[in-house]
Amino acid sequence: MKKIIMQPSGKEIDCPSGETVLSVLEKQGYALPNNCRAGACGECKIKVISGEFDQGFVMDMALSQEDRSNGYGLMCMAKPTSDVLEIEFGTVDAKPKLFPPVENSWHIVTDKIQRTQNILELKLAPLGKAIKFWPGQYAMLGEDNDQHPLRPYSIANAPKQNGELTFIITKEPTGKTSPWIHDEVNIGDNIKINAPYGTFLGDPSVDTPILCLASGSGLAPILSLLNAYLSRGHKNPVTLLFSAKTKEDLLHFGEIKYLESKYVNFKYKFTLTQQAGIIGGLEGRIDKVLPQILTDLSNHSLYIAGGVSFVDTCKKTVEKLGAKEEFIHMEEYFAQQVN
Ligand code: FES
Repeated sequence: MKKIIMQPSGKEIDCPSGETVLSVLEKQGYALPNNCRAGACGECKIKVISGEFDQGFVMDMALSQEDRSNGYGLMCMAKPTSDVLEIEFGTVDAKPKLFPPVENSWHIVTDKIQRTQNILELKLAPLGKAIKFWPGQYAMLGEDNDQHPLRPYSIANAPKQNGELTFIITKEPTGKTSPWIHDEVNIGDNIKINAPYGTFLGDPSVDTPILCLASGSGLAPILSLLNAYLSRGHKNPVTLLFSAKTKEDLLHFGEIKYLESKYVNFKYKFTLTQQAGIIGGLEGRIDKVLPQILTDLSNHSLYIAGGVSFVDTCKKTVEKLGAKEEFIHMEEYFAQQVN
């Protein structure tokens, strides 16, 4: 059995021979950014401080000769060959490091899809380097002037190799930036964003059932987190309860049903607050319907995102069902912030 030591924390983990550093880190609950898992994208590149490893076959564009001579390696393919491999990873607590925000990063609008009467989905592709972020974080969009000030919008996808970013944007009719995005920004336009920000992050080391509660564009960070948790192979049950007014407001319905059919531990529930009799749906607000699905949340991790009163109601409801304060993560959208 070999050992991996993470610095600056000094934490040690065992590495069975033949396993890659990435898979061992993940099994122990340490999140390392990755994408292709095949030595092609460079996402999992980190510095090896000491020790030897077999890098395997990786692409030069993902790990240059200069990277190699500076001691970097791609952990998705790297297998330790010395008894101890010391790597640079995370903070002094061995938590993943937040990526420093990038300002004025030019992106092109690749798609703009009206999802409901007042919610659209906006897709951006980077014109330069892809922005690195953790699932659950947000970006600032706008023109950074008085007419269209920068506003925070959660990223709705897990990180992708091509750097594509998806946003779910609600139009606040009296606002400045969201009406601009809805009515004036067009496919093919170039816009600048600042990102990433926020600490509504999934804890990769949690080994508990997960419950996500969302309404409206609060689904965005939840989708990002869900995709990350499920694709990472989270083994415990994961449930999403989405609250909408009517069937027409069930955002990303097909995509979520796809996740449900792909991952046996994932359950999708929705509740409608202004429409009755829809097959497969619940009826009423979260405080009424959640106890019909789950009665004991004492060992759950909770992720709640939506408007202020929605988040407030959800928090009270999950607390009544035994959720522990330290496992409740919330992202509240204030109308003034996202207008
Ligand atoms: S995850 Fe793509 S190179 Fe390692």
